[in-house]
Amino acid sequence: MTPMFQQFHAAKAAHPGMIVFFQNGEFFELFESDAEVGHRILGITLTKRDETPMAGFPLAKLDHHLRTMLSAGHRVAVVEQMEPPNDGKKIIPREVTRIVTLGTITEDELLDPRKPNHIAAVVRVKSNLLGLAWADLTSGTFRACDVTEAQLADECARLMPAECLIPEDAAEQLRPILSSARSITSRPHWTFDPSTSGEVLRKHFATSTLSGFGFHDHQPCLQAAGALMLYLQETLKASVSHIRQLVPHLTNTFLALDETTRRSLEITRTLRDHSREGSLLSLIDRTVTPMGARFLHDALLAPLNKREAIEARLDAVAELVREHALRGALREQLETISDLHRLTTRASTARATPKDLGAIARTLRLLPKLKAKMTGRKSALLCELETQLELVPDVRELLDRALVDEPPMYPKEGGVIREGYHAELDELRKLTRDGKEWIARYQAQEVTRTGIASLKVGFTEVMGFYIEVTNANENRVPTDYIHERTLKGAKRYITPQLKEYEEKVLTAQDRSHALEFELFLQTRDAVAAQTLRLLQTADVLALLDFLTALAELASTRNYTRPQIVDESILDIREGRHPVLDQTLPPGNFVPNDTRLSLDDGMFWLITGPNMAGKSTFIRQTALLVLLAHVGSFLPAKSATIGLTDRIFTRVGASDELSRGLSTFMVEMTEAANILNNATPQSLIILDEIGRGTSTYDGVSLAWAITEYLHDVVKSRTLFATHYHELAQLEGPLAHLRNYNVRVQELEHEIVFLHQIAPGHADKSYGIHVAQLAGVPNAVVKRAEQVLGSLQNRYTISAGARVPVAKPEVPGPEIVDPPEKPKRKAKPPTSGPNLFGEGASSS
Ligand SMILES: Nc1ncnc2c1ncn2[C@@H]1O[C@H](COP(=O)(O)OP(=O)(O)OP(=O)(O)O)[C@@H](O)[C@H]1O
Ligand SMILES: [Mg+2]
Repeated sequence: MTPMFQQFHAAKAAHPGMIVFFQNGEFFELFESDAEVGHRILGITLTKRDETPMAGFPLAKLDHHLRTMLSAGHRVAVVEQMEPPNDGKKIIPREVTRIVTLGTITEDELLDPRKPNHIAAVVRVKSNLLGLAWADLTSGTFRACDVTEAQLADECARLMPAECLIPEDAAEQLRPILSSARSITSRPHWTFDPSTSGEVLRKHFATSTLSGFGFHDHQPCLQAAGALMLYLQETLKASVSHIRQLVPHLTNTFLALDETTRRSLEITRTLRDHSREGSLLSLIDRTVTPMGARFLHDALLAPLNKREAIEARLDAVAELVREHALRGALREQLETISDLHRLTTRASTARATPKDLGAIARTLRLLPKLKAKMTGRKSALLCELETQLELVPDVRELLDRALVDEPPMYPKEGGVIREGYHAELDELRKLTRDGKEWIARYQAQEVTRTGIASLKVGFTEVMGFYIEVTNANENRVPTDYIHERTLKGAKRYITPQLKEYEEKVLTAQDRSHALEFELFLQTRDAVAAQTLRLLQTADVLALLDFLTALAELASTRNYTRPQIVDESILDIREGRHPVLDQTLPPGNFVPNDTRLSLDDGMFWLITGPNMAGKSTFIRQTALLVLLAHVGSFLPAKSATIGLTDRIFTRVGASDELSRGLSTFMVEMTEAANILNNATPQSLIILDEIGRGTSTYDGVSLAWAITEYLHDVVKSRTLFATHYHELAQLEGPLAHLRNYNVRVQELEHEIVFLHQIAPGHADKSYGIHVAQLAGVPNAVVKRAEQVLGSLQNRYTISAGARVPVAKPEVPGPEIVDPPEKPKRKAKPPTSGPNLFGEGASSS
């Protein structure tokens, strides 16, 4: 094996499971099985040398190919040459300079600026007790909590980790729960054990116990946290000192949203194509900095549930709504500010470029003006932000002194440090500059001496300084010129005097660049030392941008401040769907009221034709409750929102074949989750239930579920359904109210009014909607015929219902229709067997 391949195999062995990008001169090469992966994923050409598969790409394409590899879920070790190429006799030393994984990248080019980039770790300690920890390296957050399996799936869906670490022997059983993670990395089991992980944490935080952070020392999540910290230290090959705290994540301070609810309410991504575009987030986002955008993203996925905290945000938003001019000024200033979180963490992990430091300096210069604007505010939160906004003047002053106005990207080519910052550097630069003047003088002198007017002194990397004379003047070249190279039409020469001077100038330049690099590193270290203060300032800017953006939204879209109350009620007048309100043409959206209380009914059963607006209305209510808990104003005339502990949704049908669940099984799993976990403080949105099975099974389940939610669970509930039979429950169920979405029936068509009104609908107009959708006329006509013969074939009555008090309950009395069609294989008169599923049981 050649020495180069030995180097490759050593890197491979030290970084199991990773793809190795191996620098060889002007290219990165992938070898063996990596080459095949590279060929498949990067589309680079696969070749063979001595039977070894190889594939390569030019150095400049590194970032591009890294991004593609990461997106495909791979981790990459980058091996670089540590010395310039030599004559080929000596093997060039190479080292792994970077390990790039989805969860540990900090480069802007590889990240979405508007989303956090989480890396998580999970360990199971008992059958239903797991430890979870996560970090966002780009902002220095590090959190942990113990969870059940169900909570883990929800938290994972909220965090959407770019990378999730699990013990290698638990991969099989944990993978299915972590389906929201973009990539999974198996880690040695020992990195999760209590003593190793505890030691890593205690060492990193320099404490003897983690109780100071609010943990007790045997919590499972600390095992995950320690394993995560160790991985970060190994992978970054740099300090992770910007992670200064492990914060316990207290799930009870947030309004809980399970994975299904987040997904079906399309909070940050749409159901259809998982894109941000069209989601609640995309439509309400008025932030002007990436820091604020990420704050909003997180806030929507973890709304608050404590009244004081919500009110504090609302007070601040209200003040910024009132103060138009202030809001405008703040937004204008925030807009010019860079992503201080990510810049700071790059400085802290020794990855910041001179340009990054320049951006920090520019941002710090903008702060005093911003702070001045924030003084004298009334709301407590804005006052607090003003106090916490650290200007970090020492760092600003240092950067202003040390760096040029527009520092370059690369630190090794000079042009980074400001004139006058360092005496020795100034001297070296002068020498370089004088050198150049000397060359100019030398050229003039040689022109005079030789009489060749076109004589030029030039410079190339390979040749250094030279004198160029055209062939026409060759006979006038003095004898002391030494011929070096022949070009087309000219020859190049050197002289001992020229070479002597070159030596002096070039060493001066080399030394000046080296010194500049040294000074840059010192400056970066000095910035890194102030990481915590800079991050705190970034946090303030994020929250300020978030609040200002909510105020901007409220002001431009005519939102009102919700009143938050402790009782479990809702009173929204003229509420609008926050997404449709913006996407429909102005004036087209029909506002509606939601009033849930003991007087107005805690359970609204909403019937109405297809396409009438049932789903829109119930989702709108859930979204407004969510927004109120985020601290936002609401698109409504007025709103009183009772504090909510959880929002549950059961919406639409979705197959999760990947989890091995059928459509109906998913539906019932979601229903079970709601029935078992909702409380009187919860809000439940049901959009059809029992539709994935036979009509009789479905309506029976919907019936029983309605009773149970009403009698036992007692949450505020909106239930949209086409089971008109359920309307009979108004009366027997004291807090259930029938509502319907109004339509106007004209001779040949129906007009959707989109108005929610008391009372129930008795028709679905499904066939009419089918016609609108372009179903062939023959089918529509036949359906009308069949409908005629089916109508009134079965009835269900509320009957002699036994009030439900505790989980074991007798069901509703189902009165079989006289003909018992369910048991009959015979189709209805002249119709097809629509209830085919009933036939099979006969
Ligand atoms: N309040 C409203 N104002 C204006 N347009 C509305 C309103 N509500 C709904 N719509 C329009 O009607 C369409 C259908 O609404 P939605 O999906 O809520 O109907 P639905 O009653 O749930 O129908 P189905 O029974 O078929 O599920 C929406 O996509 C929207 O364009
Ligand atoms: Mg619907």
